[in-house]
Amino acid sequence: MFTTDRLFLRGFEDDDADKLIALHNDAKVQRFITNEPIVPRPTKYKEELKKRAEACTLHLTLILRETGEFVGQCSIMVQEPKNRDGFFGIALHPKFWGKGYGTEASKFVVGYAFEALGVQRVSLGVFEGNKAAILLYKRL
Ligand SMILES: CC(C)(COP(=O)(O)OP(=O)(O)OC[C@H]1O[C@@H](n2cnc3c(N)ncnc32)[C@H](O)[C@@H]1OP(=O)(O)O)[C@@H](O)C(=O)NCCC(=O)NCCS
Repeated sequence: MFTTDRLFLRGFEDDDADKLIALHNDAKVQRFITNEPIVPRPTKYKEELKKRAEACTLHLTLILRETGEFVGQCSIMVQEPKNRDGFFGIALHPKFWGKGYGTEASKFVVGYAFEALGVQRVSLGVFEGNKAAILLYKRL
C-alpha cells in the first residue's frame, strides 16, 4: 500500500467491486469515462470491473486516510512493455471532486509510473468538456 498526504492507495480488493460499480453508475462520472451510451450498469458489470482492475499493470483504490472512505480509483496500464507507454486513468466519487484529491493521486501515480514501472511516456484520453481533468492533466 502507498500513502500520500491524505490518501491510502492500495491494490484491488473484492469488496471494492460494489464501490466501483456505484462509481461507474453515477451519471456524473460515467459521462466522463466512457464513450458508450450513459446507462445504468447491471450487477454482473461488477465482474467486468474486477477483471479490468486485475488486468491493469497498476490499479489503485483510493481511500481517505482520515475516515477510511472510498474516494475512487486510479490506474496505469502498460499494454506493450516494449513500447514503455503507460495509459493513465482516474475516477473519483463526485463527493470528493474539487478538493485536490485528483491532483494528489495523479502526481503520485504518474511519478511512480516513471520511477518504478519503467515507462518513458504516460498517455491518456479525455473528453473535450471535462474541464477539471484537462486542467489537472495540463498541470501534471
Ligand atoms: C477529473 C478528476 C479526477 C479531477 O480530480 P479533482 O480532485 O476533482 O481535481 P482537483 O481538485 O485536483 O483539481 C484539478 C484542477 O481542476 C480544477 N477543477 C476542479 N473541479 C472543477 C470543476 N468542476 N470545473 C472546472 N475546473 C475544476 C481545479 O481548480 C484544478 O485546477 P488548477 O490546478 O488549475 O487549480 C475528478 O473530477 C473526477 O474523477 N471526475 C470524474 C471522472 C473523470 O472525469 N475522470 C477522468 C477521465 S479523463
